[in-house]
Amino acid sequence: MPKRIFSGAQPTGNLHIGNYLGALRNWVALQHEYESFFCVVNLHAITVPQDPSALAAKTREVARIYLAAGIDPKVSTVFVQSDVSEHAELAWILNCVVRVSELERMTQYKDKAKKQRENVLAGLLTYPALMAADILLYQTDLVPVGHDQKQHLELTRDLASRFNRDFGETFRMPEAFIPKVGAKIQALDDPAKKMSKSDENVHGSITLVDDADTVRRKVKRAVTDSGTEVRFDASRPAITNLLTIYQLLTGKTSVEIEEHFAGKGYAQLKSELAEVTVEFLRPFQARMNAIGDEELRSTLAEGAEKARSIARETMRAVKERMGIVGA
Ligand code: AMP
Ligand code: TRP
Repeated sequence: MPKRIFSGAQPTGNLHIGNYLGALRNWVALQHEYESFFCVVNLHAITVPQDPSALAAKTREVARIYLAAGIDPKVSTVFVQSDVSEHAELAWILNCVVRVSELERMTQYKDKAKKQRENVLAGLLTYPALMAADILLYQTDLVPVGHDQKQHLELTRDLASRFNRDFGETFRMPEAFIPKVGAKIQALDDPAKKMSKSDENVHGSITLVDDADTVRRKVKRAVTDSGTEVRFDASRPAITNLLTIYQLLTGKTSVEIEEHFAGKGYAQLKSELAEVTVEFLRPFQARMNAIGDEELRSTLAEGAEKARSIARETMRAVKERMGIVGA
């Protein structure tokens, strides 16, 4: 069997430069080496309340972002999670394999639940079972994600090996692919927190749909550290974060970058970072807008069909092993 990749992003909020640098960028780079599946995970999105028409629009926007980032639908399978009903079906089964105690230990759940108190939906707790289903349905080898998904990947592996042990070898064991640089881009307004789509403060992140003036304003307002030297330095997390974004967008080495900024101050770094980001986003957004509605629809329909044929096979094996049979 060919080596496979699966990954996805939720169609909520606005995808930002952290999503691109931590995840999408690697999907694009890896798609030629692996058989790849990139999914817009709209069923994950509804684990917190969503406005239906906004969700539908975001789902298509995220698919456009995948394509604009360089995912080639001739090479990779791009689809929407809800178009392949096996995701929800396997998620139910894995909900009967995972323990509540394991779900309650997930830091993403704890963080998100804290913000909603008594209104936490059951789906928010069982979210990792759906994510495990996404991955295991395709007999995935590698899952390129940002650092925040590491714990979910470990749980996915636990569920796969538990299922294989209890019901017989069924799932391939997936591994996380977390990049050495860029797996955790921090918020511009607070280098102690990650850049996040659900942040209420819009100045924390540069979104992939921000216009040039917005990018310049946000970079200008970004917090900095004390000191003046522009260097990668763990004790100066704000500057190191800006430098990391600069490094990934320019493809220069850290040594080259430090030499370039030697004797220049934070203001110079910010102004160059803003321009590099604007120059990255300009063609990106042009590509997004150039994708016609019909082209998008047919790409997603084809993707769903391809995904479905594989998902169906896995589901058949799962049901057989578990003794789930009907008429
Ligand atoms: P999400 O926005 O939660 O749907 O995440 C989509 C992908 O982006 C996942 O692989 C995340 O791990 C990754 N990601 C999210 N936030 C960041 C960040 N601040 N830095 C790097 N990667 C991120
Ligand atoms: N939980 C992931 C996130 O928020 C999104 C996701 C859902 C995912 N299913 C997946 C990522 C499967 C990788 C593989 O970022």
